[in-house]
Amino acid sequence: LDNGLVKTPPMGWMTWERYRCNIDCKNDPDNCISENLIKAMADKMANGGWRELGYVYLSIDDCWAKKQRDSNGKLEPDPDRFPSGIKALADYVHSRGLKLGIYSDMGNYTCGGYPGTTLDTIKIDADTFASWEVDMLKFDGCYSNDTEKAIGYPKMSSALNATGRPILYSCSWPAYEGGLPPKVNYTLLGSICNMWRNYDDIQDSWASVVKIIQWFAANQDALQPVAGPGHWNDPDMLITGDYGLSYEQSKAQLAIWAIMAAPLIMSNDLRTISEEAKDLLQNRLLIYINQDSLGIQGRQVMKVGCLSVWKRQLVNDQYAVAVLNTGDDGLPRPFSTSLGLLNITEYSAGYKLYDVFNTEYVGLFKPISPINLKINPSGVVMLFIQPATVAPHRSYFGFL
Ligand code: GLA
Repeated sequence: LDNGLVKTPPMGWMTWERYRCNIDCKNDPDNCISENLIKAMADKMANGGWRELGYVYLSIDDCWAKKQRDSNGKLEPDPDRFPSGIKALADYVHSRGLKLGIYSDMGNYTCGGYPGTTLDTIKIDADTFASWEVDMLKFDGCYSNDTEKAIGYPKMSSALNATGRPILYSCSWPAYEGGLPPKVNYTLLGSICNMWRNYDDIQDSWASVVKIIQWFAANQDALQPVAGPGHWNDPDMLITGDYGLSYEQSKAQLAIWAIMAAPLIMSNDLRTISEEAKDLLQNRLLIYINQDSLGIQGRQVMKVGCLSVWKRQLVNDQYAVAVLNTGDDGLPRPFSTSLGLLNITEYSAGYKLYDVFNTEYVGLFKPISPINLKINPSGVVMLFIQPATVAPHRSYFGFL
């Protein structure tokens, strides 16, 4: 969508994967969907080094609304959990240098059973969100049929545009239509949405991460070309810092999301996150790769058993390569390759290789030099590859 937003994939935080539809503020005041939760995360994002790295969208997912619209037909937040209202919350979030996201659903109800946005309430809801000074809308697709979605998603895009406020528009539409052409029209989506969920919800497990990665790999011929500046595929939230992934598995999700030019939207608890998880999510070179200005989504370029090789072309003839091991076989798996085998051969003087997660310089490699890697079980090795003639951005990466 050409609204000037997200020339690189959006980064931020969202309630859903971690906090779900927890509305029990009485028994679980620190973790229920409420203005307190959002303010707490806003403080962390502003003070914990997140915002400066680009994590600026702070997004409320489902279960924020009151069960009934008001007498004017407008959505209202739950008065007990959002007593100050969404406008005041947006002010708070903006004062921390962040942007506020909200959620609605093209249909009679949200997926969690709250009031949905029907075709006749699209305009009023877009106007309401803009009047609250919201910066992002995730528009889900429960409780509507194909025809309503086909009318509703473009209509909401126009309604948001008509408010005059730049609002990142995230469409769940393809995820409800199988995610693939010809049923899904990605040319249309690219012109009306800034990002879209293609596939199933992520859950807090390695199995879920692998399932998503394998689906995107299997369908990359259809999906890879449709991403670009202003319009991104969204394989769903980052779960690093939650319960389900090991340290190695967390690296693997981050590496593949960076290669896929995916939005980096965390769903975790920034108040209690471990230093280890924080260091992974704040890896500058990983973020540099994800945020590359060309905005070309990477691809799986090779698959040998449980090893797969992923490659993304970056600006200035740079590349990122990730070798993923989805196996669970005891020892790290050896993998030998070369820049020649990876089709990175333009510079005969060779390339400098950096290990993204070890944050170290690996060495200078010619196209024929062997590259011998070991990939941990359910883990990844990620390399950043730079023409030898290019000076590294030493301070930017923070470790060179
Ligand atoms: C759907 C979406 C999720 C989340 C929930 C909320 O399942 O795909 O991302 O928004 O609804 O109910």
